[in-house]
Amino acid sequence: MAVSFKIFFGDRKVVRGLRIGSRLDKYRLVKKLGYGGFATVYAALDQIENRQVAIKVPEEKFVADAGSLEDLQREVRIMAKLEHEHIVPLKDARFIDGRFVMVFPLGQESLACRMQRRLAHQTAIEFAHQMVASVAFAHSNKVLHRDVKPENFILYPNNQLKLTDFGLARIQSGRANQSASGTLAYMAPEQAMGRPTFRSDVFSLGLVIYRMFSGQLPEYPFEWPLPGATRARRILAPEFLDWIRKAIDPVPSKRFRDAVAMQNALAQIRQPLKTVRRKATASATSRRSTRQRKAA
Ligand SMILES: Nc1ncnc2c1ncn2[C@@H]1O[C@H](COP(=O)(O)OP(=O)(O)O)[C@@H](O)[C@H]1O
Ligand SMILES: [Mg+2]
Repeated sequence: MAVSFKIFFGDRKVVRGLRIGSRLDKYRLVKKLGYGGFATVYAALDQIENRQVAIKVPEEKFVADAGSLEDLQREVRIMAKLEHEHIVPLKDARFIDGRFVMVFPLGQESLACRMQRRLAHQTAIEFAHQMVASVAFAHSNKVLHRDVKPENFILYPNNQLKLTDFGLARIQSGRANQSASGTLAYMAPEQAMGRPTFRSDVFSLGLVIYRMFSGQLPEYPFEWPLPGATRARRILAPEFLDWIRKAIDPVPSKRFRDAVAMQNALAQIRQPLKTVRRKATASATSRRSTRQRKAA
């Protein structure tokens, strides 16, 4: 890569501490949204456009060395390349007052927050479709995300989920990438051992979806029956549960090759939930028994 951040980096001025109310050029920091270990994300007001944005500011110590600068450059360029309805769009990326910032449209919350409240099954199905579409698009552009987890999906109005945080993403080059970075909780066993592939993203994606329906996050060695399987079986059509099981098979070769294959298989499933009629009957029964209990 001939054009390097270092050109811009040469311009850096003295860096002040950031706090709520601080200004970075036209952005005024309003609230801290998250801290993922290497960067802080703030809600900020774009004072020219008069609307809120999310602004990601990597820790100063990570911007200071050449390797990290290269990582940031990769993150920015990957995100700039991936224009998709279910990937968070990058609005701006540059140095402001010696600080590197990435700016995105402000979402409502992460899927991790959203999952702490009740989620209608039909909404969870829509989320599954959107998540698979986002990773499939990355894969079809030869990009591995490597950190697919609920914290990295952002919810926008009208239940639109978008994938973000390509901080660990890599262009698949054919050779195995010897790195075990990523979040252990959603990580495929082979990725934890330093061999991430498209199939590892498929695994993480499957695990997020499994968790939405089962309410449980299974752990290594991911052997069936997984915790929460009874609940998942009660809600999901066998075909859809099999689709999830294939995605989270501990053996990579038994999974979908990539999220594109996973998406194609999902498109074949007409009725992912057990029939609505049975659900209605079940809730009518529970309402009846509540009434009976109250009457008693
Ligand atoms: N566009 C956004 N809108 C709202 N919240 C966001 C947005 N981007 C990130 N966040 C919040 O900040 C957290 C960290 O952002 P992320 O890009 O994943 O950074 P990190 O690399 O530090 O994990 C997310 O988990 C989410 O809660
Ligand atoms: Mg993150």
